[in-house]
Amino acid sequence: MKIVVLNGSPKGDISVTMQYVNYIQKKFAEHEFEIINISQRINQIENDNEIFEEIINEIRSSDGVIWAFPVYVFAVHSSYQRFIELIFERKVQDAFKGKYASIITTSIHFYDHTALNHINSICDDLDMNYTGYFSLHMYDLQKEDIRKNLQIFAQNYFDAIRNNSFTFKNYDKVKYTPIEYTPSITYDKLDTSNKKIVVIADSLENANLNKMVNKFTSSFLKDIELINLQDVDIKGSCLGCMKCGYNYECAYTGKDEYIDLYNNKIKTADIIVFAGAIKYRYLSSEWKRFFDRGFFNTHTPTLLGKQVGFIISGPLKQISNLRQISESYLEWQQANLVGFVTDEHSSNEDIDKELYALTCNLIKLSNINYRKPSTFLGVAGMKIFRDEIWGELRFPFLADHKAYKALNVYDFPQKKYKTRIINSILILMTKIPTIRKAIYSSKMKYNMIESLKKIVEDPTT
Ligand SMILES: Cc1cc2nc3c(=O)[nH]c(=O)nc-3n(C[C@H](O)[C@H](O)[C@H](O)COP(=O)(O)O)c2cc1C
Repeated sequence: MKIVVLNGSPKGDISVTMQYVNYIQKKFAEHEFEIINISQRINQIENDNEIFEEIINEIRSSDGVIWAFPVYVFAVHSSYQRFIELIFERKVQDAFKGKYASIITTSIHFYDHTALNHINSICDDLDMNYTGYFSLHMYDLQKEDIRKNLQIFAQNYFDAIRNNSFTFKNYDKVKYTPIEYTPSITYDKLDTSNKKIVVIADSLENANLNKMVNKFTSSFLKDIELINLQDVDIKGSCLGCMKCGYNYECAYTGKDEYIDLYNNKIKTADIIVFAGAIKYRYLSSEWKRFFDRGFFNTHTPTLLGKQVGFIISGPLKQISNLRQISESYLEWQQANLVGFVTDEHSSNEDIDKELYALTCNLIKLSNINYRKPSTFLGVAGMKIFRDEIWGELRFPFLADHKAYKALNVYDFPQKKYKTRIINSILILMTKIPTIRKAIYSSKMKYNMIESLKKIVEDPTT
């Protein structure tokens, strides 16, 4: 069998993910593996059509395609996303149609599921036969049981190809026919309350997005800053070199405008609006590059307390994965996500009203310094980072370790002596059947609210 492996690591062959592919290759030497370094070679692939066509022909003549990639900032590396854009822009979807696909990904399991959902949905858009994923922690290859499991996964994949097995479609095709937005309601202009407001946009050639952004920026008494990502000198995508781990210094420092933009415009803003158009179930690959390059701040939140909104042209309501990526990104950043305005409306007035509501809420919530509490997305995500930076990733991410100490991220070991003593007493008491019965029948519910009731009843709280 001929299997094409699309390598999504910007590090090319020196990739953690590729070690898993190499292991499969060793165990299944009877198959031919064609590994193509997509992310590392994206400029060549994009600019030299012969190379692009060669890759597409390899896929066309293959029996199966393995999407093998590291998780990068809730999804795939921006160059991999660019490759996905090229597949559709250059209309070569037919090369993928009917091919058996699987995913091998490595990460620290921080939002690996959103990256997997993304590529699964792309496989479905390409009418591939998607057979499933294997998501690994970076160092899982060291574990015998996981190596065995990986072999079973690979065997199942090859069996599916050989047997022409039936596969499941998990995602419907997106249907999107927006109205041509023309602003129609004029509201009184709003005072910015001396808040620093920044809109960062790309895809402003998209007429709806352009008009929505214009409507938003012109709704204030004072001018606010609009940054068009296409005007910013960004020399390249994240290299995955991890030079930033020591003290947040990026390999691109002094070489382009990205770091100044992030440090001087974004970190200093009170209110940020991200504006973009959906392309192939994400925002553009330029937007992805923006988020990936933000990794020079490694795992340290940098948007604490900011109010954030999104203005999006595209079918966001049909792509809940992208919505979750945005929500999770901001919960992890400890910012407050105020809302999304999209052009998925049947009337201009509805878009105007939502834009106005976003404007008012951004200002109001910034003035009162509100941040809604984190959900599972933020709480669980931070616990993964906490454990990794405390443990295996403390080196090379020394800057995170320092920041996590200052931010009190290390909320363990949970000393809580009082709770431990009470627990020991209660556990001992449950050994006595009559007391156990009393606790688990009537007392339990009351005990759960006892401390909360005291706060409610206390006139000083
Ligand atoms: C810029 C950058 C962003 C990353 N983003 C994530 C992430 O969102 N979630 C995660 O679990 N791991 C993330 N990682 C960790 C990588 O997924 C992990 O180290 C992976 O094994 C690297 O694979 P590779 O060597 O094949 O590139 C990130 C690493 C880098 C350098």
